[in-house]
Amino acid sequence: MLVLGIETSCDETSVSIVENGKNIISLETYSQIDLHKDFDGVVPEIASRNHLIKILEVLKKATNGHSLNKIDIISATSGPGLVGSLLVGTNAAKSLSLLFNKPYVPVNHILAHMYAPHIENEIPFPYIGLVASGGHTILFLVRSFHDIEFLGSTIDDAVGEAFDKIAKFFNLGYPGGPIIDTLANNVEFNPPDEFQNISMPLPEEKDRYNFSYSGLKTAIIYRAKKLNISEKETPYVLKAFQEIAIKHLLDKTLNAIKDFKIKRLVISGGVSANSYLRKQLEILKEEKKIDTYTASIKLCSDNAAMVAGRAYIDYLNNPKEYGNNSLKNAVFSRLSFVKKGKRE
Ligand code: KG4
Ligand code: ZN
Repeated sequence: MLVLGIETSCDETSVSIVENGKNIISLETYSQIDLHKDFDGVVPEIASRNHLIKILEVLKKATNGHSLNKIDIISATSGPGLVGSLLVGTNAAKSLSLLFNKPYVPVNHILAHMYAPHIENEIPFPYIGLVASGGHTILFLVRSFHDIEFLGSTIDDAVGEAFDKIAKFFNLGYPGGPIIDTLANNVEFNPPDEFQNISMPLPEEKDRYNFSYSGLKTAIIYRAKKLNISEKETPYVLKAFQEIAIKHLLDKTLNAIKDFKIKRLVISGGVSANSYLRKQLEILKEEKKIDTYTASIKLCSDNAAMVAGRAYIDYLNNPKEYGNNSLKNAVFSRLSFVKKGKRE
């Protein structure tokens, strides 16, 4: 089954054709990063306008040489995300669905991220799933593709957002994650004590699976100002920040692994590209015998292959829901897929 996926929830215009949720036949992504750099973050108005400019070009490239008639399903990210941006991708997909008389499958962005590691791995259920991106830091107990229990999430900034804000403070550019990753990993010495002894919040039992990043961000910025950290010293501070941020991510995740006795962990979202995090996952594999899975780097950040992959899973689960021309108009909210009655 061939699925066309469109992703325009934030600042990437991406189109992909994926066969049976696994085989990426084409994937074209246009990133708007350069357009937002001057603002140190994504400007929604600029994002939607540029999706409008790029959508046909990216669609053409991704479908070049493939007959759209042979595509079985048309899908697009329908939320959560920037509404002006989402409208571009969903309306392009719905138009194609009408034109070629194929089912339209709307896809939840968080579920798409969670699907990304499944494209290249055979991952058994159940597992503890962590989505760590610029907009979300959410922990789930995943029993199957359709039985997902919410465990916890950030109570303030998302982890990727913290990387972006720290990079902004040090004038390093946007997005901060990959920049901090590179600079921190070139540091050979341990960061100064002032940056190592920052304690993280939320030790209480009720916050066992919750995260918080705004205090860490403030502590780093406050200490950097107080100590008048120079450009040369900045990478040491970034290293400290990265290690504390990732430790917090994994500490909370390990709580769930321990409580539910599930030694399988799947991490997705832009932050799962972080090389320090990936090293820590290798260590968890070795030392604690936890099976860990991530997507390859190009599938960690926003991309349409994960959208097409998740659409395939959703369609197979309930094909009637997406019958020909029944243009389901769903715009997903953040956790609309979490099973009712389950803990939230
Ligand atoms: O999943 P994504 O592309 O978009 C959202 O849905 O938010 O994630 C983007 C986020 C940004 O905050 C970016 O700084 C972060 O992922 N990111 C990283 C790395 N690569 C991207 N954070 C840490 N280390 C990285 N290597
Ligand atoms: Zn995303």
